[in-house]
Amino acid sequence: MTTTTSPTALTNGVRARGLVRTYGTRRALDGIDLDLGPGVTGLLGRNGAGKTTLLRCLATDLEPTDGGLSVLGLDPERSIERTEIRRRLGYLPQNSSFYPHFTAFGLLDYMAVLKEQGGRRQRHEEIRRALRRVDLYDRRHTRIRRLSGGMRQRLGLAAALLGDPRLLLLDEPTIGLDPEQRIRFRDLVSELAVHSTVLLSTHQIEDVAALCRRVLVLDRGRVIFDGAPTDLIARARGRVWEQASRPPEGVTAWRLADGRYRVLGPEEGDAPDTVERVPLEPSLEDAYLLLTGSVTR
Ligand SMILES: Nc1ncnc2c1ncn2[C@@H]1O[C@H](COP(=O)(O)OP(=O)(O)OP(=O)(O)O)[C@@H](O)[C@H]1O
Ligand SMILES: [Mg+2]
Repeated sequence: MTTTTSPTALTNGVRARGLVRTYGTRRALDGIDLDLGPGVTGLLGRNGAGKTTLLRCLATDLEPTDGGLSVLGLDPERSIERTEIRRRLGYLPQNSSFYPHFTAFGLLDYMAVLKEQGGRRQRHEEIRRALRRVDLYDRRHTRIRRLSGGMRQRLGLAAALLGDPRLLLLDEPTIGLDPEQRIRFRDLVSELAVHSTVLLSTHQIEDVAALCRRVLVLDRGRVIFDGAPTDLIARARGRVWEQASRPPEGVTAWRLADGRYRVLGPEEGDAPDTVERVPLEPSLEDAYLLLTGSVTR
């Protein structure tokens, strides 16, 4: 499918304008402008920044309080279009809980029926494919309560993959995955993102560094960075170093295994004057910490 762009819609992705969502008086989303097209976009932000709220609004699970939203070129405010969005997107919610007595296959079949996906034979073929993609085919007849935490997470991912969606909304998908499965996940998502739009909310910054050409950072319901991970890293150059002693209170630093300290400079030229400072190449995590730290100080 090709991406067609019109002033109001992205048929393969998402367009949000001035998106607001409040819970009582709390503005969980405080005016989000966003255009998402094919590829993987990472969504970072501290606990409570608004990531899940944003994904839930895009998945039509939550109604925005204000602002404009188009998902897959459709208007979620219209009931028929909302149903169509739900049928077409793949959504992995944060902390999804499944019926424990279902088997892995049974759960996916149930979900595929709800999504009205084809006849029985075609549906079952699709389910087997999704189970293979997340390496759970051998466990297809196992009841969910007997699956490990990481396996349940992968089952949730398989559910999101049903129907080969053009839009995938993944809320902390790699939580609990072992390193091998995480690499497998990256490979899978990267392949899917050739044709699909993937929004990946995570605290695993290595996943963003490995997978995303674009990263959004949310802070208190607002986008405080939208760009390439390399541009975020570039902002941190000259602000990361290593030293032998613990820096003064108020400076972000942590003790390393060899007893030295990795230090993130609060501001350019405002770093503590330490003689034995060794400059380091910043990582995406350093850059993210500097960005979110500077916002709240
Ligand atoms: N159902 C709810 N009722 C009331 N407030 C809520 C609800 N869900 C979220 N909030 C509040 O909205 C804000 C954003 O929460 P959200 O779950 O979107 O954050 P998040 O970025 O996903 O955080 P985390 O990294 O912990 O998953 C927080 O202040 C949170 O307390
Ligand atoms: Mg969340």
